[in-house]
Amino acid sequence: MAPERPDLRARARQLREDRDARLLRRHRRTVLRRDGMRCEVEDGGGSRWLLNFCGNDYLGLSQHFAVSGALQDAAATDGVGSGGSHLVCGHHARHAALEREIADWLQVPAALVLGSGFAANLAVLQALLGDDDVCVQDRLNHASLIDAARLAGCRLRRYPHADAPGALRQLRTLPDTAAILATDGVFSMDGDVAPLRELAVVARVQQALLYVDDAHGIGVRGPDGRGSVAEARLDVEAVPLQLVTLGKALGGYGAVLAGDADLIAHLAETARPYVYTTALPPAQAAASLAAVRLARHEHWRRERLAALVQRFRTRALGQGLDLMASDTPIQPLRCGDNATALALSAALDAAGFWVTAIRPPTVPEGQARLRITLSAAHADADVDALIDALARARDAVPAQDPAAAVQA
Ligand SMILES: Cc1ncc(COP(=O)(O)O)c(C=O)c1O
Repeated sequence: MAPERPDLRARARQLREDRDARLLRRHRRTVLRRDGMRCEVEDGGGSRWLLNFCGNDYLGLSQHFAVSGALQDAAATDGVGSGGSHLVCGHHARHAALEREIADWLQVPAALVLGSGFAANLAVLQALLGDDDVCVQDRLNHASLIDAARLAGCRLRRYPHADAPGALRQLRTLPDTAAILATDGVFSMDGDVAPLRELAVVARVQQALLYVDDAHGIGVRGPDGRGSVAEARLDVEAVPLQLVTLGKALGGYGAVLAGDADLIAHLAETARPYVYTTALPPAQAAASLAAVRLARHEHWRRERLAALVQRFRTRALGQGLDLMASDTPIQPLRCGDNATALALSAALDAAGFWVTAIRPPTVPEGQARLRITLSAAHADADVDALIDALARARDAVPAQDPAAAVQA
């Protein structure tokens, strides 16, 4: 008898239609050119320029001449690809130089370059945890950390957002297994900062390893931009591993795990997302090295960013806009239902601003938002113009009725 399997194409079509009905369809928008925070995007048959307020280029380094110059110079001598995985023939002096620079910056013994932050999170949990172990995570951790625990096959226990006693309770339920307590440093969709000092105490008393994914804190927070861990005055003893992503404040692509030398050495030999993949292009590592040096030493970028965050919040709250509590460059505006988030995003778009609506499953049901992000490369006038456009959009977009909101 022939099997009667579900048709995956039909299923995909159906799921897409379901997403449509719930206002959850997602679209890519094609950027043709970037000039600072302005982007020329495809629009119908033509194009138009938008002022970008939803990227992660917090320090404005992605187009810095020293960073792109380093990439071009390195590509001219070493080519565009690494040519192999790290343990075969793809490990280059430029990777090693970047690892040394980041270890020095963060004052930790060792560092390891990986292809992306997503891969790095998979690497950490897969290499360190097995079936009998447990990973305890904040409920709002990044998707890659959740997926990493699934890949590792370990038990995954989640605690309420930013709730250190909740983390302690979860760890206590499994006292005899090896454990990682994993948290974002700065939460990617909320912009708030994890209670790292409290979590460090929990990890210490429970003999769990505290792992901090600082994708959105590095470069932006802490002394010399060393991130959320340094800002919380925690050393490598308290946080044996942390994640630095190269694609956000550092303006490039890739990631670096930084911390304890034994852990890093083990990851370098056994982490599947490190071992079984092509090494990052050395030219990209050279670009990131230039970016790290700028991020470390150009304090004015962080000061400028902090001033813009302050300006944005003061003016937005003055306009009665419903901002979430955050002092980072991630400044989410609560919308609730998907329809309101989409309508506000469309109104901003019409006024020349790019702020993508963030909807489930990226955020919990009923918590759609505009994730507004600021960069040191924005001008004061850009922020002021955004606030005016937001206030006008809020006044023009009718509030949804709650029944529709639940449905959406
Ligand atoms: C908290 C967090 N961790 C990890 C990642 C993944 O990093 P990457 O974009 O380098 O894969 C992201 C980025 O989206 C993130 O926000």
